[in-house]
Amino acid sequence: MRLISPSLLSADFGNMQRDIEMLNQSDCDWLHVDVMDGIFVPNISFGQPIVKHIKRFARKPLDVHLMIMDPGRYVADFKAAGADILTVHYEACNHLDRTLHAISDAGMRCGVVLNPHTPVELLEDIVQLCDVVLLMSVNPGFGGQKFIENTYSKVRRLRQMVERKHLECLIEVDGGVNVQNAPLLYEAGADVLVAGNAVFSSSDPQATIRAIKGLQ
Ligand code: DX5
Ligand code: ZN
Repeated sequence: MRLISPSLLSADFGNMQRDIEMLNQSDCDWLHVDVMDGIFVPNISFGQPIVKHIKRFARKPLDVHLMIMDPGRYVADFKAAGADILTVHYEACNHLDRTLHAISDAGMRCGVVLNPHTPVELLEDIVQLCDVVLLMSVNPGFGGQKFIENTYSKVRRLRQMVERKHLECLIEVDGGVNVQNAPLLYEAGADVLVAGNAVFSSSDPQATIRAIKGLQ
């Protein structure tokens, strides 16, 4: 699968409705929504009230990436705010199995996110519960950072694990994705690419979305 999930972290927060409308009209598949708590990551972005407003205008599934400690506390809140896919960090959960079940039971697709230093092999006994695994290709907290090259190897190793276990889980990559590295990531086995800066700093974001997906 070759999907793209543009990150609203790079949108113009003062013109969110306009930017969401642009994405509604584009070939993008999901809208990536980055929630940060200032503790798990150094930055603070926004929480459920803003996600709720994004949901009012969005015509694509909301792919909500929680960069918060102990995210299990907020599963019901993000369901109420309109999340369709809810991903939580491996490094931020003491009881990942319980949290993933809670997300699924609430009626959302669930996923685990790995920081750049966390090996994919740690997913051996949890990947079967995931609809998505999100591999960070930058240290989370900020848009516009440089892509970490070791990500290709992680995508390939995760793809092998998913195939060996005959799972349907999607592999998503987040951070520093651009028109140049996108084909290499899809080729390595990624299904969904998140792109913030590459899309929103483009003079033609809709064309950049098509270019990242390999459409012309
Ligand atoms: C980083 C966020 C990303 C970010 C990606 O902590 O999780 O989703 O918005 O932005 P770019 O594509 O600019 O690296
Ligand atoms: Zn993200």
